Amino acid sequence: MIGRLNHVGVATPSIDDSVKLYRDILGATDIGEKFALPEQGVWVCFVNFENSQVELIEPYDENSTITGFLKQNPAGGQHHICYEVEDIHVARDEMLAKGVRVLGEPRIGAHGTLIIFLHPKDMGGVLIELMETHK
Ligand code: CO
Repeated sequence: MIGRLNHVGVATPSIDDSVKLYRDILGATDIGEKFALPEQGVWVCFVNFENSQVELIEPYDENSTITGFLKQNPAGGQHHICYEVEDIHVARDEMLAKGVRVLGEPRIGAHGTLIIFLHPKDMGGVLIELMETHK
């Protein structure tokens, strides 16, 4: 059921500073505009590579879902890995049937398709995002 790796989520206290690392140090040339996702509590910016993408996320406000992560990792760091699935509801039911905790209901993510997150304690310490493939 698991599809291609879509992106790696990287939390940062400053998207502007992180963009400089990817652009000026690593030489990335395909970098999107920063945009707000207030309902997820984050600013987002996509850095595109030939075979995948980094999703830079910065807290939108104090109540952001990544505020706690940045308290523990003040410089930022790798936050989640996102794989594509055909159907998010089928994937959610399959995960629950296998005893994996799913965080929240399917909701629209940064790419405009439905997403869920799997509890890292059930997935070897990795926060995994599942995202419905663009149709
Ligand atoms: Co993501």
